[in-house]
Amino acid sequence: MTIRSASFSAASFAPRARSAAITVGACAASKSASSPVCHEVCFSGSTASGPFSLPPLPYPEDALAPVISATTIGFHYGKHHRAYVDNLNKAVADTDFANKSLDDIVKATANDPARVAIFNNAAQDWNHTFYWNSMRPNGGGIPTGAIADHIKDSFGDYAKFRQDFASAAP
Ligand SMILES: [Fe+2]
Repeated sequence: MTIRSASFSAASFAPRARSAAITVGACAASKSASSPVCHEVCFSGSTASGPFSLPPLPYPEDALAPVISATTIGFHYGKHHRAYVDNLNKAVADTDFANKSLDDIVKATANDPARVAIFNNAAQDWNHTFYWNSMRPNGGGIPTGAIADHIKDSFGDYAKFRQDFASAAP
């Protein structure tokens, strides 16, 4: 699994429509026989109530196995990510932040001791959304384009970058 080079625009983090976090129909469309977690995620009972909602996963929960299991995806998506969205909605209720984009909330609340709860939940919503969209089934390969140029400039070649990265990650 590697980071894909597809574009990922800031528009992805604009306030999402007020709606139930996941509908049964959306779940059924993404559920597969090997993804029992989907049922748990889809029917966990939590729904978004506020300007932010849980964005759909860009792939089925079992699509990244065996690198990341459906259970792990389901846990981080259906529980962690959902909780951050729900808590963000509670934290921004009746504030000016309810009408701001996720990007703007993160920037406006960073390092503000009075806005820690808003920042933490907004940043974790952003982080999880970025993470889901940074991977894809059967992804991988050597980067191309601008990122490849930066890797070459900084490390000499991809093999050296990979070696240094692996050494730095415990
Ligand atoms: Fe998580």
